[in-house]
Amino acid sequence: MQGSASTAHQPPRPATGKLGILTPGLGAVATTFIAGVESVRRGLSAPIGSLTQMATIRLGKRTDGRSPLIKDFLPLASLDDIVFGAWDPIADDAYTAAKKAGVLEDRDLEPIADFLKGIVPMPAVFENKYVTRLHGENVKKGKTKRDLAEQLRQDMRDFKAKHGCDRLVIVWCASTEIYIKPGPQHATIEQFEKAMDDNDDAISPSMLYAWAAIMEGVPYCNGAPNLAVDTQALLQLAIDKGVPVSGKDFKTGQTWMKTIVAPGLKARMLGLEGWYSTNILGNRDGEVLDDPASFKTKEESKLSVLHTILQPELYPALYKDFSHVVRINFYPPRGDNKEGWDNIDIRGWMGYPMQIKINFLCRDSILAAPLVLDLALLSDFAHRAGMKGIQEWLSFYYKSPMAAAGLQPEHDLFIQQTKLKNTMRHLMGEEQITHLGLEYYQS
Ligand SMILES: NC(=O)c1ccc[n+]([C@@H]2O[C@H](COP(=O)([O-])OP(=O)(O)OC[C@H]3O[C@@H](n4cnc5c(N)ncnc54)[C@H](O)[C@@H]3O)[C@@H](O)[C@H]2O)c1
Repeated sequence: MQGSASTAHQPPRPATGKLGILTPGLGAVATTFIAGVESVRRGLSAPIGSLTQMATIRLGKRTDGRSPLIKDFLPLASLDDIVFGAWDPIADDAYTAAKKAGVLEDRDLEPIADFLKGIVPMPAVFENKYVTRLHGENVKKGKTKRDLAEQLRQDMRDFKAKHGCDRLVIVWCASTEIYIKPGPQHATIEQFEKAMDDNDDAISPSMLYAWAAIMEGVPYCNGAPNLAVDTQALLQLAIDKGVPVSGKDFKTGQTWMKTIVAPGLKARMLGLEGWYSTNILGNRDGEVLDDPASFKTKEESKLSVLHTILQPELYPALYKDFSHVVRINFYPPRGDNKEGWDNIDIRGWMGYPMQIKINFLCRDSILAAPLVLDLALLSDFAHRAGMKGIQEWLSFYYKSPMAAAGLQPEHDLFIQQTKLKNTMRHLMGEEQITHLGLEYYQS
């Protein structure tokens, strides 16, 4: 099962009309994303951190001097054509939610307060069992999980009609759910749908959003680490319905840094004895992750990174049995301003030990917001370009990228970036860039 491109090099359909971006979750990340886009639209801010808005892409030979902005090269939806919607079990509008999240300051929120107040979350499909630290009243009722998912489908159709949208895309920005292992309920779409009818515990709310999106032909991106769209049943459904899907877990602070430093160590053939990562975090996400079941989901996602980058099976002398520990500590005074520490024990020439310390004082949602924008715009583009199933080229944006069955996901940020840009070139009928540097000899 794999993502696929249209083989015939059909040019992507143009981005005509409005694009609705719907987020399950209207918390810190979603409100920072929405407020940022509105602020950029009004010329009050710059979209820093967004490749679709700020990055260029080299086309052709270096001597050609062609490096357009990605947004001028790809037919992406314009920011002015975006409409926002959300679901959340907490009924706060986007302004109130942003104030509570405490990411953005009044000087950025007040000028767009009326706009944010107009974004009121639709009742969510939510069960406290899957996010034990949260209690919300703005929740849908239904006899079965299928009923609930059908209500989500109706929400999508209603939103589209109400706002006159041409297309929708969904980016999961809701809390991390508890750890669920894939079981027989997730193996085929028949078993999945039966499990929805039976109200089986193995079907979490996030899976219902994913099912509903795919059924409505809406691209789906999973910003959290929990099992959702990455099951055999839903991946097959995405292929059958021609819908691009991607995930999982936005690659923002510490893991982003890890996927920069680890390829550097490997490139220089320096050994690794151990990597200890710890964080203090005081936002609602931190509170949810304080629950061991939700943390286990996050831990799995954060731990997977180093092994696939360092490939101990290929380099046992350098990377066999290194120790990797990840901790997240809920510490309210810090709010959204997470502090991450990394201690990296490495080995050099003749086995001599060295240490690297990284102290990253980051802002979680400030790093995540541009990823939401890029994922939404690129997933919508992928859909118009005839792509379906897993979008491995979007691995760049994820801590725990989904890959085709039997394949290792790619974690190295620089390989991911090459893949991202080469896929853009391919879909637009441009030569892929190999960095071979043979152009002077060939011409
Ligand atoms: N900020 C980052 O750097 C970052 C990085 C990677 C992943 N993430 C993930 O992104 C997600 C959002 O992070 P955040 O900081 O905005 O968290 P948050 O707690 O501020 O917001 C999450 C929102 O989701 C809502 N929610 C929970 N279950 C829901 C459901 N079933 N349907 C609809 N809404 C639901 C909550 O009520 C809350 O308002 C989390 O899962 C987090 O782990 C964030």
